[in-house]
Amino acid sequence: MELKKRPLLTAGQIRKKVEEIAQRISADYAGRDLLLIAVLKGSLIFASDLMRRLTVPSSVDFIRARSYCQTHSQGRCDFLLLPEQPVTGRHVLVIEDIIDTGLTARCIVDYLAAQNPASLEICTLLDKPARRNVQIHLRYVGFAIDNEFVVGYGMDYEEQGRNRPDIHVLLGD
Ligand code: PRP
Repeated sequence: MELKKRPLLTAGQIRKKVEEIAQRISADYAGRDLLLIAVLKGSLIFASDLMRRLTVPSSVDFIRARSYCQTHSQGRCDFLLLPEQPVTGRHVLVIEDIIDTGLTARCIVDYLAAQNPASLEICTLLDKPARRNVQIHLRYVGFAIDNEFVVGYGMDYEEQGRNRPDIHVLLGD
């Protein structure tokens, strides 16, 4: 069944934004080696597009976490996949597709920070500030969006739609 949806961001708009972010990151990290940590699964398309546009030496690793909201401002998460490379002393940039409550990113940042990276920042394509439950600093944000359910460019609805090149809002009945 085809779900009702409304276009939000075209592939062209996303491509332009990814290029802008890549230029900022390349300038900010000039002279340093980056370790990108892509948060699976949603960031896989964004991370692969972004890293191909970076001009600084970059390696990539992956993390996967499932967060649970316990109270309004507290959560915990289970790690389903951890990075293989040590992050101690590295310049680490966490790559997310979307920050919603912030719980997943908070858990990931806390986990990585405990290993004493040289620096630790977050880059997200989308940000839903209206949904935030925990404070989290986002160094690079592509687009701030309203509190709507989005699909495409890595993001799914019941595991479908990740391969769409554009981003849509899923509409209720
Ligand atoms: C999404 C997204 C973030 C997280 C953001 O992942 O990729 O990791 O949710 O939500 P939060 O800010 O409320 O924690 P999801 O759990 O849908 O898994 P997926 O990336 O594998 O689809």
